[in-house]
Amino acid sequence: MHIHIRTLIPEDEIALAFLANNRSIYDNVRDIFPHPYTLDHARAWIDYGRSQPTLNAAITVDNCFAGCVGLIPGQDIHRVSAEIGYWLGEPFWGKGIMTTALDLWVQQIWQTFPEVHRLWAGVFAFNTASMRVLEKVGFEKEAVLKQAMIKNQVLVDEHLYSLRRS
Ligand SMILES: CC(C)(COP(=O)(O)OP(=O)(O)OC[C@H]1O[C@@H](n2cnc3c(N)ncnc32)[C@H](O)[C@@H]1OP(=O)(O)O)[C@@H](O)C(=O)NCCC(=O)NCCS
Repeated sequence: MHIHIRTLIPEDEIALAFLANNRSIYDNVRDIFPHPYTLDHARAWIDYGRSQPTLNAAITVDNCFAGCVGLIPGQDIHRVSAEIGYWLGEPFWGKGIMTTALDLWVQQIWQTFPEVHRLWAGVFAFNTASMRVLEKVGFEKEAVLKQAMIKNQVLVDEHLYSLRRS
């Protein structure tokens, strides 16, 4: 199995729309992630991703589009910190793919953004798979922010993970 991170391409449109149109993904990410997820959403995301390819990329498995990774750099005094995001299409879950993909993405970020010193992610309390992925990549749980987030009308604790450049 060959896992790779690359720039989004227009040919990802159908696979992106198909894999992203999934309630099991929507329930674990920000509300800005569309649901239902249409071909128009996919096209717009690919255009956006291609306009800033160091911040948004595709995960491929054996050359097939499988998911996305992202980076949101902090501003001003937080410019040494950046938030990472990721999701994988459900048919690919449970095979260690995200652990490998996130590891690749982290290495790429360290190389591309020399000023970034700390990566972080905020995870819904119920998303144990995502926390496990972060831990396997070397992230540490820094804090639990009580009822910091709301998803599907329910307040949820945010588990804050970080990794510092070694
Ligand atoms: C979270 C997600 C990225 C995981 O991808 P994946 O490729 O299946 O992850 P991996 O196979 O690399 O690792 C998953 C780990 O979580 C564990 N796991 C999976 N489901 C679990 C559960 N319900 N409870 C506890 N652990 C769980 C697996 O056993 C594995 O750990 P292990 O290697 O120690 O056995 C994927 O499920 C996803 O995209 N979910 C929806 C979007 C999302 O949650 N994004 C992250 C937002 S913070």
